[in-house]
Amino acid sequence: MPPHFARRTAELRPFLAMEVMERAFEMERAGEDVIHLEIGEPDFPAHPAAARACIRAIEAGQTHYTDSRGLAELREAIAADHGRRFEVDVDPERIIVSNGTSSAMLLVFSLLVGEGDEVVLPSPHYPCYPNFVRMSGGVPVAILADPEAGYAMDVEAVRRALTPRTRAIVVSSPANPTGAVQSEETMRGLASLGVPIISDEIYDGLLYEGAKVTSALEITDDAYVLDGFSKRYAMTGYRLGYAIVPLASVRALQVMQQNLFISANCFVQHAGVAVLRDRSDALAEMLAAYTRRRRLLIDGLRELGFVIPVEPKGAFYVFADARAFDSDSLRLAYALLDRAKVGTTPGIDFGAAGEGWLRFSYANSEAAIETALERLAAALPSLR
Ligand SMILES: Cc1ncc(COP(=O)(O)O)c(C=O)c1O
Repeated sequence: MPPHFARRTAELRPFLAMEVMERAFEMERAGEDVIHLEIGEPDFPAHPAAARACIRAIEAGQTHYTDSRGLAELREAIAADHGRRFEVDVDPERIIVSNGTSSAMLLVFSLLVGEGDEVVLPSPHYPCYPNFVRMSGGVPVAILADPEAGYAMDVEAVRRALTPRTRAIVVSSPANPTGAVQSEETMRGLASLGVPIISDEIYDGLLYEGAKVTSALEITDDAYVLDGFSKRYAMTGYRLGYAIVPLASVRALQVMQQNLFISANCFVQHAGVAVLRDRSDALAEMLAAYTRRRRLLIDGLRELGFVIPVEPKGAFYVFADARAFDSDSLRLAYALLDRAKVGTTPGIDFGAAGEGWLRFSYANSEAAIETALERLAAALPSLR
Protein backbone atom coordinates (compact mmCIF):
# COMPACT_ATOMS: atom_id res chain seq x y z
CA MET A 1 0.00 0.00 0.00
CA PRO A 2 1.44 3.39 -0.91
CA PRO A 3 1.59 5.79 2.06
CA HIS A 4 -1.29 8.22 2.41
CA PHE A 5 -0.40 11.80 1.62
CA ALA A 6 -2.58 14.89 1.93
CA ARG A 7 -4.49 15.79 -1.22
CA ARG A 8 -2.62 19.08 -1.59
CA THR A 9 0.58 17.22 -2.43
CA ALA A 10 -1.10 15.48 -5.36
CA GLU A 11 -2.17 18.85 -6.73
CA LEU A 12 1.34 20.27 -6.77
CA ARG A 13 3.12 20.12 -10.12
CA PRO A 14 6.86 19.62 -10.37
CA PHE A 15 8.94 22.75 -10.94
CA LEU A 16 10.27 21.74 -14.36
CA ALA A 17 13.19 24.20 -14.39
CA MET A 18 14.42 22.37 -11.30
CA GLU A 19 13.72 18.95 -12.85
CA VAL A 20 15.82 19.79 -15.93
CA MET A 21 18.56 21.20 -13.71
CA GLU A 22 18.57 18.08 -11.53
CA ARG A 23 18.82 15.86 -14.63
CA ALA A 24 21.70 18.08 -15.82
CA PHE A 25 23.44 17.67 -12.46
CA GLU A 26 23.18 13.88 -12.84
CA MET A 27 24.73 14.12 -16.32
CA GLU A 28 27.54 16.24 -14.88
CA ARG A 29 28.17 13.70 -12.16
CA ALA A 30 28.52 11.13 -14.95
CA GLY A 31 31.23 13.33 -16.54
CA GLU A 32 29.18 15.25 -19.16
CA ASP A 33 29.70 18.94 -19.81
CA VAL A 34 26.32 20.68 -19.64
CA ILE A 35 25.66 24.39 -20.25
CA HIS A 36 23.00 25.66 -17.92
CA LEU A 37 20.56 28.05 -19.55
CA GLU A 38 17.67 26.64 -17.52
CA ILE A 39 18.61 28.24 -14.22
CA GLY A 40 17.03 31.43 -12.94
CA GLU A 41 19.97 32.37 -10.82
CA PRO A 42 22.65 35.03 -11.33
CA ASP A 43 26.06 33.52 -12.06
CA PHE A 44 27.73 36.49 -10.35
CA PRO A 45 29.10 36.30 -6.82
CA ALA A 46 26.78 37.74 -4.19
CA HIS A 47 27.04 41.45 -3.44
CA PRO A 48 30.49 41.96 -1.81
CA ALA A 49 29.06 43.55 1.33
CA ALA A 50 26.96 40.43 2.03
CA ALA A 51 29.67 37.91 2.93
CA ARG A 52 31.63 40.38 5.08
CA ALA A 53 28.55 41.36 7.06
CA CYS A 54 27.43 37.77 7.43
CA ILE A 55 30.80 36.61 8.75
CA ARG A 56 31.04 39.59 11.11
CA ALA A 57 27.55 38.83 12.41
CA ILE A 58 28.35 35.15 13.00
CA GLU A 59 31.61 36.01 14.76
CA ALA A 60 29.79 38.54 16.93
CA GLY A 61 27.35 35.82 17.97
CA GLN A 62 24.39 37.23 16.09
CA THR A 63 23.10 33.73 15.51
CA HIS A 64 19.83 33.74 17.41
CA TYR A 65 16.17 34.10 16.56
CA THR A 66 15.08 37.59 15.66
CA ASP A 67 11.72 39.33 15.77
CA SER A 68 9.57 37.17 13.51
CA ARG A 69 8.93 40.19 11.26
CA GLY A 70 12.69 40.68 10.83
CA LEU A 71 15.32 42.90 12.45
CA ALA A 72 14.04 46.45 12.89
CA GLU A 73 17.14 47.86 11.14
CA LEU A 74 16.56 45.58 8.16
CA ARG A 75 12.91 46.54 7.86
CA GLU A 76 13.93 50.20 8.03
CA ALA A 77 16.59 49.64 5.36
CA ILE A 78 14.09 47.82 3.09
CA ALA A 79 11.55 50.62 3.51
CA ALA A 80 14.20 53.23 2.67
CA ASP A 81 15.37 51.19 -0.34
CA HIS A 82 11.84 50.83 -1.71
CA GLY A 83 11.38 54.56 -1.18
CA ARG A 84 14.57 55.28 -3.14
CA ARG A 85 13.73 52.98 -6.05
CA PHE A 86 10.15 54.21 -6.28
CA GLU A 87 8.65 57.46 -5.20
CA VAL A 88 6.74 56.09 -2.29
CA ASP A 89 6.93 56.29 1.48
CA VAL A 90 6.93 52.85 3.04
CA ASP A 91 6.25 52.33 6.72
CA PRO A 92 8.77 49.69 7.99
CA GLU A 93 5.91 48.30 10.07
CA ARG A 94 4.43 46.99 6.81
CA ILE A 95 7.40 44.69 6.16
CA ILE A 96 7.78 41.00 6.93
CA VAL A 97 11.26 39.59 6.28
CA SER A 98 11.38 35.98 5.11
CA ASN A 99 13.69 33.14 4.11
CA GLY A 100 13.72 34.08 0.44
CA THR A 101 10.87 35.61 -1.50
CA SER A 102 9.40 32.11 -1.84
CA SER A 103 8.59 31.99 1.89
CA ALA A 104 7.00 35.43 1.71
CA MET A 105 4.93 34.10 -1.20
CA LEU A 106 3.78 31.12 0.86
CA LEU A 107 2.77 33.43 3.72
CA VAL A 108 0.86 35.84 1.48
CA PHE A 109 -0.99 33.16 -0.51
CA SER A 110 -1.80 31.32 2.73
CA LEU A 111 -3.18 34.56 4.16
CA LEU A 112 -5.41 35.44 1.24
CA VAL A 113 -6.52 32.15 -0.29
CA GLY A 114 -8.82 29.59 1.25
CA GLU A 115 -10.72 26.55 -0.02
CA GLY A 116 -12.41 27.35 -3.33
CA ASP A 117 -11.05 30.90 -3.54
CA GLU A 118 -9.78 32.16 -6.86
CA VAL A 119 -6.60 34.00 -7.80
CA VAL A 120 -6.17 35.61 -11.20
CA LEU A 121 -2.70 35.32 -12.68
CA PRO A 122 -1.09 35.84 -16.05
CA SER A 123 -0.18 32.96 -18.34
CA PRO A 124 2.71 32.52 -18.90
CA HIS A 125 3.64 32.95 -15.22
CA TYR A 126 6.26 31.99 -12.65
CA PRO A 127 5.58 28.25 -12.12
CA CYS A 128 5.13 28.42 -8.35
CA TYR A 129 2.21 30.90 -8.25
CA PRO A 130 -0.54 28.42 -9.17
CA ASN A 131 1.05 25.80 -6.96
CA PHE A 132 0.84 28.11 -3.95
CA VAL A 133 -2.79 28.83 -4.83
CA ARG A 134 -3.60 25.11 -5.14
CA MET A 135 -1.77 24.30 -1.91
CA SER A 136 -4.05 26.79 -0.15
CA GLY A 137 -7.07 24.98 -1.59
CA GLY A 138 -7.66 27.72 -4.14
CA VAL A 139 -8.17 27.81 -7.87
CA PRO A 140 -5.72 29.62 -10.18
CA VAL A 141 -7.49 31.50 -12.97
CA ALA A 142 -5.06 32.13 -15.80
CA ILE A 143 -5.41 35.13 -18.12
CA LEU A 144 -3.43 35.11 -21.32
CA ALA A 145 -0.59 37.63 -21.38
CA ASP A 146 -0.46 37.80 -25.15
CA PRO A 147 2.89 38.25 -26.93
CA GLU A 148 0.97 40.21 -29.58
CA ALA A 149 0.22 42.78 -26.88
CA GLY A 150 3.79 42.74 -25.58
CA TYR A 151 2.64 40.44 -22.74
CA ALA A 152 0.70 43.33 -21.20
CA MET A 153 -1.90 42.08 -18.75
CA ASP A 154 -5.32 42.63 -20.30
CA VAL A 155 -7.18 44.59 -17.64
CA GLU A 156 -10.57 43.97 -19.29
CA ALA A 157 -9.95 40.22 -19.45
CA VAL A 158 -8.95 40.29 -15.78
CA ARG A 159 -12.14 42.23 -14.96
CA ARG A 160 -14.23 39.61 -16.77
CA ALA A 161 -12.51 36.82 -14.83
CA LEU A 162 -13.36 38.31 -11.43
CA THR A 163 -15.98 36.53 -9.33
CA PRO A 164 -17.10 36.95 -5.72
CA ARG A 165 -14.48 34.30 -4.90
CA THR A 166 -11.54 36.24 -6.39
CA ARG A 167 -9.10 37.00 -3.58
CA ALA A 168 -6.13 38.46 -5.46
CA ILE A 169 -4.65 39.38 -8.82
CA VAL A 170 -1.01 38.41 -9.36
CA VAL A 171 1.23 40.64 -11.42
CA SER A 172 4.92 40.21 -11.96
CA SER A 173 6.96 42.99 -13.51
CA PRO A 174 9.52 42.38 -14.88
CA ALA A 175 8.09 38.93 -15.42
CA ASN A 176 9.59 35.50 -15.39
CA PRO A 177 9.68 34.00 -18.07
CA THR A 178 8.85 36.77 -20.55
CA GLY A 179 10.90 39.66 -19.14
CA ALA A 180 7.85 41.87 -19.78
CA VAL A 181 7.44 45.08 -17.82
CA GLN A 182 3.87 46.23 -17.16
CA SER A 183 3.09 49.86 -17.88
CA GLU A 184 1.92 52.26 -15.20
CA GLU A 185 -1.45 52.35 -16.99
CA THR A 186 -1.82 48.56 -16.70
CA MET A 187 -0.83 48.65 -13.05
CA ARG A 188 -3.40 51.38 -12.43
CA GLY A 189 -6.03 49.41 -14.34
CA LEU A 190 -5.40 46.27 -12.27
CA ALA A 191 -5.40 48.22 -9.02
CA SER A 192 -8.73 49.84 -9.94
CA LEU A 193 -10.52 46.47 -9.97
CA GLY A 194 -11.03 46.45 -6.20
CA VAL A 195 -9.14 43.21 -5.54
CA PRO A 196 -5.80 43.01 -3.66
CA ILE A 197 -2.76 42.97 -5.94
CA ILE A 198 0.07 40.52 -5.30
CA SER A 199 2.96 42.25 -7.06
CA ASP A 200 6.14 40.24 -7.54
CA GLU A 201 8.85 42.87 -8.00
CA ILE A 202 11.87 40.61 -7.49
CA TYR A 203 13.40 41.48 -10.89
CA ASP A 204 13.19 45.25 -10.45
CA GLY A 205 16.58 46.79 -11.23
CA LEU A 206 17.38 44.24 -13.94
CA LEU A 207 16.03 46.45 -16.72
CA TYR A 208 17.07 47.21 -20.31
CA GLU A 209 16.51 49.87 -22.92
CA GLY A 210 15.19 52.43 -20.44
CA ALA A 211 12.41 50.22 -19.07
CA LYS A 212 10.97 51.32 -15.74
CA VAL A 213 8.97 49.30 -13.26
CA THR A 214 5.94 50.75 -11.51
CA SER A 215 5.67 49.41 -7.99
CA ALA A 216 2.14 48.47 -6.98
CA LEU A 217 2.72 50.58 -3.87
CA GLU A 218 2.97 53.72 -5.99
CA ILE A 219 -0.65 53.15 -6.93
CA THR A 220 -2.44 51.41 -4.12
CA ASP A 221 -2.03 50.42 -0.49
CA ASP A 222 -4.09 47.30 -1.15
CA ALA A 223 -1.02 45.49 -2.44
CA TYR A 224 1.28 42.72 -1.32
CA VAL A 225 4.71 43.40 -2.79
CA LEU A 226 7.00 40.37 -2.96
CA ASP A 227 10.67 41.09 -3.28
CA GLY A 228 14.05 39.85 -2.14
CA PHE A 229 17.80 39.80 -2.45
CA SER A 230 18.20 36.82 -4.81
CA LYS A 231 18.27 38.59 -8.17
CA ARG A 232 19.40 42.23 -7.74
CA TYR A 233 22.19 41.26 -5.33
CA ALA A 234 22.86 37.72 -6.63
CA MET A 235 22.14 36.37 -3.14
CA THR A 236 20.04 33.31 -4.07
CA GLY A 237 21.69 31.00 -1.55
CA TYR A 238 21.40 33.45 1.31
CA ARG A 239 17.61 32.95 1.17
CA LEU A 240 16.48 36.45 2.06
CA GLY A 241 13.26 38.04 0.90
CA TYR A 242 10.36 40.09 2.17
CA ALA A 243 6.80 41.16 1.66
CA ILE A 244 5.47 44.70 2.01
CA VAL A 245 1.82 44.37 2.92
CA PRO A 246 -1.16 46.42 4.08
CA LEU A 247 -0.74 47.36 7.73
CA ALA A 248 -3.90 45.46 8.62
CA SER A 249 -2.36 42.21 7.30
CA VAL A 250 0.88 42.34 9.27
CA ARG A 251 -0.37 40.73 12.46
CA ALA A 252 -1.83 37.67 10.73
CA LEU A 253 1.36 37.21 8.69
CA GLN A 254 3.48 37.67 11.80
CA VAL A 255 1.56 34.89 13.56
CA MET A 256 2.02 32.60 10.55
CA GLN A 257 5.73 33.41 10.40
CA GLN A 258 6.11 32.72 14.14
CA ASN A 259 4.59 29.28 13.64
CA LEU A 260 6.07 28.30 10.28
CA PHE A 261 9.59 29.73 10.35
CA ILE A 262 10.05 31.70 13.63
CA SER A 263 12.27 34.18 11.79
CA ALA A 264 14.64 34.53 8.86
CA ASN A 265 18.32 33.72 9.65
CA CYS A 266 19.75 36.38 11.93
CA PHE A 267 23.20 36.71 10.30
CA VAL A 268 21.70 36.69 6.81
CA GLN A 269 19.48 39.58 7.85
CA HIS A 270 22.63 41.48 8.87
CA ALA A 271 23.98 40.81 5.38
CA GLY A 272 20.77 42.34 4.01
CA VAL A 273 21.26 45.49 6.10
CA ALA A 274 24.86 45.87 4.88
CA VAL A 275 23.91 45.42 1.23
CA LEU A 276 21.12 47.98 1.40
CA ARG A 277 23.32 50.50 3.22
CA ASP A 278 26.19 50.03 0.72
CA ARG A 279 26.19 52.91 -1.73
CA SER A 280 28.52 51.33 -4.33
CA ASP A 281 26.80 50.40 -7.55
CA ALA A 282 27.43 46.66 -7.68
CA LEU A 283 24.38 46.19 -9.90
CA ALA A 284 25.83 48.32 -12.73
CA GLU A 285 28.52 45.75 -13.56
CA MET A 286 26.02 42.90 -13.66
CA LEU A 287 23.67 44.96 -15.80
CA ALA A 288 26.39 45.73 -18.33
CA ALA A 289 27.12 42.01 -18.66
CA TYR A 290 23.43 41.06 -18.84
CA THR A 291 22.89 43.69 -21.53
CA ARG A 292 25.59 42.15 -23.77
CA ARG A 293 24.42 38.59 -23.13
CA ARG A 294 20.80 39.48 -23.79
CA ARG A 295 21.65 40.77 -27.27
CA LEU A 296 23.88 37.78 -28.00
CA LEU A 297 21.21 35.29 -26.97
CA ILE A 298 18.26 37.00 -28.69
CA ASP A 299 20.14 37.36 -31.99
CA GLY A 300 21.64 33.88 -31.79
CA LEU A 301 18.32 32.18 -31.07
CA ARG A 302 16.58 34.05 -33.87
CA GLU A 303 19.29 32.94 -36.28
CA LEU A 304 18.65 29.34 -35.24
CA GLY A 305 14.95 29.63 -36.08
CA PHE A 306 13.40 30.40 -32.71
CA VAL A 307 10.73 33.08 -32.81
CA ILE A 308 11.01 35.87 -30.25
CA PRO A 309 8.04 38.16 -30.88
CA VAL A 310 8.78 40.44 -27.95
CA GLU A 311 12.25 41.29 -26.69
CA PRO A 312 12.45 41.07 -22.90
CA LYS A 313 12.69 44.42 -21.10
CA GLY A 314 13.79 43.01 -17.76
CA ALA A 315 15.06 40.01 -15.75
CA PHE A 316 17.54 37.65 -17.47
CA TYR A 317 15.43 35.39 -19.66
CA VAL A 318 14.54 35.06 -23.31
CA PHE A 319 11.20 33.36 -23.93
CA ALA A 320 11.24 31.85 -27.40
CA ASP A 321 8.63 30.13 -29.53
CA ALA A 322 10.17 26.75 -30.37
CA ARG A 323 7.24 25.21 -32.26
CA ALA A 324 9.33 25.11 -35.45
CA PHE A 325 11.21 22.28 -33.74
CA ASP A 326 8.66 20.58 -31.48
CA SER A 327 5.32 21.60 -30.04
CA ASP A 328 5.98 19.53 -26.89
CA SER A 329 8.26 21.78 -24.85
CA LEU A 330 9.15 19.19 -22.22
CA ARG A 331 10.20 16.66 -24.88
CA LEU A 332 12.20 19.36 -26.66
CA ALA A 333 13.95 20.53 -23.48
CA TYR A 334 15.03 16.98 -22.63
CA ALA A 335 16.09 16.33 -26.25
CA LEU A 336 18.27 19.43 -26.19
CA LEU A 337 19.72 18.42 -22.86
CA ASP A 338 20.54 14.92 -24.15
CA ARG A 339 21.78 15.85 -27.62
CA ALA A 340 23.21 19.37 -27.25
CA LYS A 341 24.04 19.21 -23.54
CA VAL A 342 22.24 22.52 -23.13
CA GLY A 343 19.73 22.98 -20.31
CA THR A 344 16.61 25.02 -21.12
CA THR A 345 13.29 25.35 -19.34
CA PRO A 346 10.21 23.92 -21.08
CA GLY A 347 7.55 26.59 -21.62
CA ILE A 348 4.82 24.36 -20.18
CA ASP A 349 6.39 25.06 -16.77
CA PHE A 350 4.92 28.57 -17.09
CA GLY A 351 1.37 27.47 -17.84
CA ALA A 352 -0.61 26.39 -20.89
CA ALA A 353 0.25 29.56 -22.81
CA GLY A 354 3.91 28.57 -22.64
CA GLU A 355 3.51 25.19 -24.35
CA GLY A 356 5.71 24.98 -27.43
CA TRP A 357 8.08 27.61 -26.06
CA LEU A 358 11.42 27.44 -24.24
CA ARG A 359 12.90 29.78 -21.68
CA PHE A 360 16.62 30.49 -22.02
CA SER A 361 18.40 32.20 -19.13
CA TYR A 362 21.33 34.49 -19.82
CA ALA A 363 22.56 34.30 -16.26
CA ASN A 364 25.59 32.58 -17.77
CA SER A 365 28.78 33.90 -19.36
CA GLU A 366 29.01 35.15 -22.95
CA ALA A 367 31.43 32.31 -23.72
CA ALA A 368 28.95 29.74 -22.38
CA ILE A 369 26.09 31.31 -24.35
CA GLU A 370 28.18 31.25 -27.55
CA THR A 371 29.05 27.58 -27.03
CA ALA A 372 25.43 26.77 -26.24
CA LEU A 373 24.32 28.43 -29.49
CA GLU A 374 26.87 26.37 -31.44
CA ARG A 375 25.70 23.17 -29.77
CA LEU A 376 22.06 24.01 -30.46
CA ALA A 377 22.89 24.75 -34.11
CA ALA A 378 24.39 21.28 -34.40
CA ALA A 379 21.53 19.48 -32.66
CA LEU A 380 18.44 21.31 -33.90
CA PRO A 381 18.35 20.12 -37.56
CA SER A 382 17.73 16.57 -36.36
CA LEU A 383 14.75 17.79 -34.29
CA ARG A 384 12.78 19.71 -36.89
C1 LIG B 1 9.27 35.67 -10.35
C2 LIG B 1 9.99 35.06 -9.20
N1 LIG B 1 9.55 35.28 -7.96
C3 LIG B 1 10.15 34.72 -6.90
C4 LIG B 1 11.24 33.89 -7.03
C5 LIG B 1 11.83 33.25 -5.81
O1 LIG B 1 12.93 33.93 -5.33
P1 LIG B 1 13.67 33.62 -3.97
O2 LIG B 1 15.03 33.08 -4.35
O3 LIG B 1 13.83 34.96 -3.30
O4 LIG B 1 12.87 32.69 -3.17
C6 LIG B 1 11.75 33.65 -8.31
C7 LIG B 1 12.90 32.75 -8.50
O5 LIG B 1 13.31 32.42 -9.58
C8 LIG B 1 11.11 34.26 -9.42
O6 LIG B 1 11.54 34.06 -10.68
